[in-house]
Amino acid sequence: MNVISPEMEKSIHQCQVIELPKISDPRGNLTFVESKRHILFPIQRIYYLYDVPGGSERGGHAHRDLHQLMIAISGSFDVHLDDGREKKTVHLNRPYQGLLICPMIWRELDNFSSGAVCLVMASNYYDERDYYRNYDEFISDVKG
Ligand code: TYD
Repeated sequence: MNVISPEMEKSIHQCQVIELPKISDPRGNLTFVESKRHILFPIQRIYYLYDVPGGSERGGHAHRDLHQLMIAISGSFDVHLDDGREKKTVHLNRPYQGLLICPMIWRELDNFSSGAVCLVMASNYYDERDYYRNYDEFISDVKG
Protein backbone atom coordinates (compact mmCIF):
# COMPACT_ATOMS: atom_id res chain seq x y z
CA MET A 1 0.00 0.00 0.00
CA ASN A 2 1.25 3.50 -0.81
CA VAL A 3 1.44 5.71 2.27
CA ILE A 4 1.61 9.39 1.36
CA SER A 5 3.15 11.70 3.91
CA PRO A 6 2.23 15.41 3.91
CA GLU A 7 5.70 16.28 2.52
CA MET A 8 5.03 14.03 -0.46
CA GLU A 9 1.79 15.80 -1.38
CA LYS A 10 2.20 17.73 -4.59
CA SER A 11 5.74 16.45 -5.05
CA ILE A 12 7.29 14.63 -7.97
CA HIS A 13 7.45 11.56 -5.70
CA GLN A 14 3.65 11.46 -5.95
CA CYS A 15 3.96 11.26 -9.74
CA GLN A 16 4.38 7.56 -10.26
CA VAL A 17 4.04 5.20 -13.17
CA ILE A 18 1.28 2.67 -12.52
CA GLU A 19 0.81 -0.62 -14.31
CA LEU A 20 -2.61 -1.02 -15.87
CA PRO A 21 -4.34 -4.32 -16.59
CA LYS A 22 -3.21 -5.95 -19.82
CA ILE A 23 -5.37 -8.66 -21.34
CA SER A 24 -2.98 -10.41 -23.69
CA ASP A 25 -4.60 -12.07 -26.66
CA PRO A 26 -3.24 -13.40 -29.97
CA ARG A 27 -5.88 -11.16 -31.60
CA GLY A 28 -4.36 -8.10 -29.95
CA ASN A 29 -3.95 -6.83 -26.42
CA LEU A 30 -6.48 -4.87 -24.36
CA THR A 31 -5.93 -2.43 -21.50
CA PHE A 32 -8.55 -0.61 -19.46
CA VAL A 33 -8.67 2.05 -16.79
CA GLU A 34 -11.37 2.18 -14.14
CA SER A 35 -12.11 5.39 -12.31
CA LYS A 36 -11.67 5.21 -8.52
CA ARG A 37 -10.02 1.81 -8.94
CA HIS A 38 -6.82 2.17 -10.91
CA ILE A 39 -6.90 5.91 -10.34
CA LEU A 40 -8.41 7.54 -7.27
CA PHE A 41 -10.04 10.48 -9.03
CA PRO A 42 -13.23 10.39 -11.10
CA ILE A 43 -12.48 10.97 -14.80
CA GLN A 44 -14.24 14.12 -16.06
CA ARG A 45 -12.30 14.65 -19.28
CA ILE A 46 -10.11 12.83 -21.76
CA TYR A 47 -7.90 14.53 -24.31
CA TYR A 48 -5.09 13.38 -26.55
CA LEU A 49 -2.12 14.77 -28.39
CA TYR A 50 -1.37 13.33 -31.83
CA ASP A 51 0.31 14.28 -35.10
CA VAL A 52 3.06 15.86 -32.99
CA PRO A 53 5.84 17.01 -35.33
CA GLY A 54 9.34 15.75 -34.55
CA GLY A 55 11.18 18.13 -32.22
CA SER A 56 7.95 19.65 -30.83
CA GLU A 57 7.48 20.43 -27.16
CA ARG A 58 4.15 20.37 -25.35
CA GLY A 59 3.07 21.19 -21.82
CA GLY A 60 5.05 23.99 -20.27
CA HIS A 61 2.54 24.60 -17.48
CA ALA A 62 1.25 23.37 -14.12
CA HIS A 63 -2.24 22.90 -12.72
CA ARG A 64 -3.56 24.18 -9.43
CA ASP A 65 -6.02 21.36 -8.67
CA LEU A 66 -6.10 18.98 -11.62
CA HIS A 67 -5.09 15.33 -11.31
CA GLN A 68 -4.13 13.49 -14.49
CA LEU A 69 -3.18 10.07 -15.75
CA MET A 70 -0.99 10.24 -18.86
CA ILE A 71 -0.51 7.28 -21.20
CA ALA A 72 1.62 6.76 -24.31
CA ILE A 73 -1.17 4.97 -26.16
CA SER A 74 1.13 4.73 -29.16
CA GLY A 75 4.83 5.48 -29.58
CA SER A 76 6.81 7.24 -26.88
CA PHE A 77 7.76 10.61 -25.38
CA ASP A 78 9.49 12.11 -22.35
CA VAL A 79 7.70 13.90 -19.50
CA HIS A 80 9.84 16.31 -17.47
CA LEU A 81 8.34 16.92 -14.01
CA ASP A 82 9.25 19.74 -11.64
CA ASP A 83 7.62 20.45 -8.25
CA GLY A 84 9.72 23.54 -7.62
CA ARG A 85 12.16 21.62 -5.43
CA GLU A 86 13.10 18.54 -7.44
CA LYS A 87 12.89 17.42 -11.04
CA LYS A 88 12.66 14.08 -12.79
CA THR A 89 12.07 12.77 -16.28
CA VAL A 90 9.81 9.84 -17.10
CA HIS A 91 9.94 8.10 -20.48
CA LEU A 92 6.54 6.72 -21.42
CA ASN A 93 6.48 4.04 -24.09
CA ARG A 94 3.97 1.37 -23.02
CA PRO A 95 0.18 1.56 -23.54
CA TYR A 96 -0.34 -0.43 -20.32
CA GLN A 97 1.53 2.07 -18.13
CA GLY A 98 0.19 5.41 -16.92
CA LEU A 99 1.93 8.33 -15.27
CA LEU A 100 -0.03 9.93 -12.43
CA ILE A 101 0.50 13.69 -12.26
CA CYS A 102 -0.83 15.47 -9.18
CA PRO A 103 -1.57 19.21 -8.86
CA MET A 104 1.24 21.79 -8.66
CA ILE A 105 3.66 19.97 -10.96
CA TRP A 106 5.28 21.86 -13.81
CA ARG A 107 5.47 19.50 -16.79
CA GLU A 108 7.09 19.61 -20.21
CA LEU A 109 6.76 16.94 -22.87
CA ASP A 110 9.26 16.34 -25.66
CA ASN A 111 11.15 13.65 -27.59
CA PHE A 112 7.92 12.46 -29.26
CA SER A 113 8.45 9.47 -31.51
CA SER A 114 6.85 9.35 -34.91
CA GLY A 115 3.16 8.46 -34.54
CA ALA A 116 3.14 9.04 -30.77
CA VAL A 117 -0.23 9.54 -29.12
CA CYS A 118 -0.43 10.96 -25.60
CA LEU A 119 -3.75 10.20 -23.91
CA VAL A 120 -4.65 12.09 -20.74
CA MET A 121 -7.45 11.29 -18.29
CA ALA A 122 -8.20 14.32 -16.15
CA SER A 123 -10.10 14.88 -12.92
CA ASN A 124 -11.92 17.97 -14.14
CA TYR A 125 -13.20 19.85 -17.18
CA TYR A 126 -10.91 22.20 -19.06
CA ASP A 127 -10.55 25.45 -17.15
CA GLU A 128 -7.87 27.95 -18.09
CA ARG A 129 -8.03 29.41 -14.55
CA ASP A 130 -6.56 26.15 -13.25
CA TYR A 131 -3.35 26.70 -15.24
CA TYR A 132 -0.03 28.24 -14.27
CA ARG A 133 1.47 29.24 -17.61
CA ASN A 134 4.22 31.35 -16.11
CA TYR A 135 7.05 29.37 -14.47
CA ASP A 136 8.13 32.21 -12.16
CA GLU A 137 4.58 32.59 -10.83
CA PHE A 138 4.41 28.83 -10.26
CA ILE A 139 7.71 28.81 -8.37
CA SER A 140 6.69 31.80 -6.32
CA ASP A 141 3.46 30.08 -5.22
CA VAL A 142 5.21 26.77 -4.52
CA LYS A 143 7.80 28.41 -2.33
CA GLY A 144 5.03 30.37 -0.57
P1 TYD B 1 -2.50 23.01 -23.44
O1 TYD B 1 -3.05 22.42 -22.19
O2 TYD B 1 -1.59 24.19 -23.29
O3 TYD B 1 -1.73 21.90 -24.29
P2 TYD B 1 -0.43 21.02 -23.94
O4 TYD B 1 -0.26 21.00 -22.48
O5 TYD B 1 -0.73 19.70 -24.49
O6 TYD B 1 0.73 21.62 -24.65
O7 TYD B 1 -3.71 23.36 -24.42
C1 TYD B 1 -3.51 23.82 -25.72
C2 TYD B 1 -4.76 24.56 -26.16
O8 TYD B 1 -5.89 23.69 -26.19
C3 TYD B 1 -5.12 25.72 -25.24
O9 TYD B 1 -5.58 26.78 -26.06
C4 TYD B 1 -6.25 25.22 -24.42
C5 TYD B 1 -6.91 24.19 -25.32
N1 TYD B 1 -7.49 23.04 -24.57
C6 TYD B 1 -8.86 22.90 -24.52
O10 TYD B 1 -9.63 23.72 -25.06
N2 TYD B 1 -9.37 21.82 -23.84
C7 TYD B 1 -8.59 20.90 -23.23
O11 TYD B 1 -9.09 19.91 -22.63
C8 TYD B 1 -7.15 21.08 -23.28
C9 TYD B 1 -6.23 20.10 -22.61
C10 TYD B 1 -6.66 22.17 -23.96
